[in-house]
Amino acid sequence: MKKVLVTGGAGYIGAHTAVELIAQGFEPIIIDNFSKSDRSLLAGIEKITDKTATFYEGDCADEKFIQMVFEKEKGIKCVMHFAAFKAVGESVRQPLMYYQNNINSLLTVLEAMNKNEVKNIIFSSSCTVYGEPDSIPVDESTPFKKAESPYGATKQMCERILEDQSMADNNLRVISLRYFNPIGAHPTSMLGELPLDVPGNLVPYITQTAAGIRKKLTVFGSDYNTPDGSCVRDYIHIVDLAQAHVAALSKMIDSIDLKSYEVFNLGTGLGVSVLELVNEFIKVTGIQLPFEIGARRSGDVEKTYANPAKAFEKLGWKTKLTYSNALLDAWNWQKKISKING
Ligand code: WQD
Repeated sequence: MKKVLVTGGAGYIGAHTAVELIAQGFEPIIIDNFSKSDRSLLAGIEKITDKTATFYEGDCADEKFIQMVFEKEKGIKCVMHFAAFKAVGESVRQPLMYYQNNINSLLTVLEAMNKNEVKNIIFSSSCTVYGEPDSIPVDESTPFKKAESPYGATKQMCERILEDQSMADNNLRVISLRYFNPIGAHPTSMLGELPLDVPGNLVPYITQTAAGIRKKLTVFGSDYNTPDGSCVRDYIHIVDLAQAHVAALSKMIDSIDLKSYEVFNLGTGLGVSVLELVNEFIKVTGIQLPFEIGARRSGDVEKTYANPAKAFEKLGWKTKLTYSNALLDAWNWQKKISKING
């Protein structure tokens, strides 16, 4: 079996990707320090796949720990690097923690890959690297603007580190996957998003409001230059996103028509406003969601959505699920973890 080291594999995106790796015959070797994730998602992977993925608890910035894993797990074909802090608001309040964790983790993983002659890495990047795009849909040639947050700046810096290293080491192959807005949960309700405190992201806040955990959703602004005044995003189902990682891996291992450093936008190509998403949630679930219009959130981009053509052309991947599917799956997951029947 082809071993894939999945850092941050107990997290939302890492765990869903581990499921898709197993489904395609790969062997995920998961590492996580549970700083922003929960051990229960490992059980979710097992329930869905009926396989117990190899797991090591530890920190990607810990050189000795990473080296131990590479020594124990010979034959790693690729590293999928998810391990990073990703809360935009938190990064503004604690920038040093973000630079320390997100940059050092990648540097430590790259050093260990070099030492152990592992030559493929797929990096978890984000549409945040673009900032507020001048034109949409956004394609991969869209230039970076000044990142809106330290979180976004770490993603820009990590992409630069990876590009420079792929130029310096002719054998290193890198794919950076720029996620638009991942939402939803696994259709089995065995995996989903598990915010450890008050959710910063829209969909978990919606489902926690619907579950009665939060009193009311605040829509951050309705005076933007968009059809209904609320911000527009590209919401991609987490299962589509996970499958894109396996498509990228397969191309990377089997094909030679990728450059040593490639980036791909992962999105649906459809822009959806906050109010459209809220109304769709009410429609698909029948829940009368309490919400109000509030002030804008600083740092928010007004409008962004992907041009997903390159991923289709080069990886043979495109989204199959809709944001309506994602909202229903997210609600089913919330009901399960909140033990709500019906
Ligand atoms: C979406 C829209 C909010 C909460 C961030 C990261 C990005 C990625 C996804 C990692 C915005 C509005 C939100 C609420 C609201 N992270 N909103 N009320 O900011 O687009 O992207 O998360 O991969 O890199 O930047 O996502 O879900 O926080 O916000 O009105 O209670 O929902 O203003 O317009 P965002 P989000």
